[in-house]
Amino acid sequence: MDITTVQIQESRLRQDLLDLARFGEDQGRGITRTALNDADLAARQWFKERMRETGLKVYEDAAANLIGRMDSTVGPTDGPCIATGSHIDTVAQGGKFDGALGICASLEALRAIRESGLSLPCPLELLVFTDEEGSHFAGTFGSRAMFNLLQEGEMEKSRGTGMTNLAQDLKRMGKDPQKIGQVVRSPSEFRAFLEVHIEQGPVLESMGIPIGIVEGIVHLGRYLVRVEGKTGHAGTTPMHLREDALVKAAGIITTVNEAILSAGPEIVGTIGELRVHPGIINVIPGEVEMALDLRSVKEATLASVKKKIVEIVHSTDKAKIETIITKGGVKMDPGIMEAIELSCRQRGIPFHRLWSGAGHDAMTFPTQHIPTGMIFIPCVGGKSHCPDEAIRCEDAATGAQVLADTLVRMAFKAEQ
Ligand code: GLV
Ligand code: MN
Ligand code: MN
Repeated sequence: MDITTVQIQESRLRQDLLDLARFGEDQGRGITRTALNDADLAARQWFKERMRETGLKVYEDAAANLIGRMDSTVGPTDGPCIATGSHIDTVAQGGKFDGALGICASLEALRAIRESGLSLPCPLELLVFTDEEGSHFAGTFGSRAMFNLLQEGEMEKSRGTGMTNLAQDLKRMGKDPQKIGQVVRSPSEFRAFLEVHIEQGPVLESMGIPIGIVEGIVHLGRYLVRVEGKTGHAGTTPMHLREDALVKAAGIITTVNEAILSAGPEIVGTIGELRVHPGIINVIPGEVEMALDLRSVKEATLASVKKKIVEIVHSTDKAKIETIITKGGVKMDPGIMEAIELSCRQRGIPFHRLWSGAGHDAMTFPTQHIPTGMIFIPCVGGKSHCPDEAIRCEDAATGAQVLADTLVRMAFKAEQ
């Protein structure tokens, strides 16, 4: 069987990426298609149509994940599938390609496979996950819901006072959050999961290599720090009689940053979210909520830095820290890495193996012992999660082609 008879079309992929980027355009400040906002809901309708046009059977589950299924024409229709996909949501004021590339490349790969006339012996599924970015709470919501990995009460939680939670937003789109259990699928329904993504870092671009084969994804911890003070009048309260929550929080931010820096290059940490209450120019801040994101290739490093951070927070008067979520690092499946490598070799495409410092829905599948792989393409300047996120269209096409070839390779391998 000649896998190279499957040929993706760069122009179609380009058009899909351009069309999707119109949903959530935020007045010149990137894309704000945070999960289940109006732009995200409109983008999902658009993508469902594209999946139907491609001949997929389209479903939306109770977690609002979109599923497009291509049944096998020669094998059993209810057999385990090979799944591919990514997420459609973005961070606020994010880029056009994080998540979007993965779902559009998957769509193009499935189109190309259908057009090739090849009869695959197993079904393929295109999965579009809800709230990978965690704009509501903990991220990778859709994929974790699919395998019953949500934390108790998670859908009712948000990261800050007055922010909407997933239960509210699911209701807003007509879903019953009580029925979330209906999304749960058995790992035996999946032979494998394969995600295409932009690298979100500078390695591939700096090497001039179009394809990254991901070896693993780092450990991640997210935490919420709350600092209380006493609110009051900004003009009448003398400086020595104040308890300013933001001044205390500033001390925590600086000390936490120093602790992370001194732990060496194996760990990164960011306090990227701060809510000051009441947040008014002439009122002393009475409460601050801030979110901390820690990542490391080494679980022990993450644990020891986390311990130091807890000490820092607890040594500050009226400051608390709680865990939003921890996600263990995962390794990609060696057989799938090999299959991606073969696909690259067959078309003479240079590749490089690397780790992912970003989190992905592809972190969820290995926890269920489902063989998982990721294909990266370079992004310009290594930039991501910002309006400047950019890719070269030919790299996107290369990623989609390697995905299509690898899906076919894996489908026939699974048959043996
Ligand atoms: C998701 O993009 C993450 O790594 O935060
Ligand atoms: Mn992503
Ligand atoms: Mn992201």
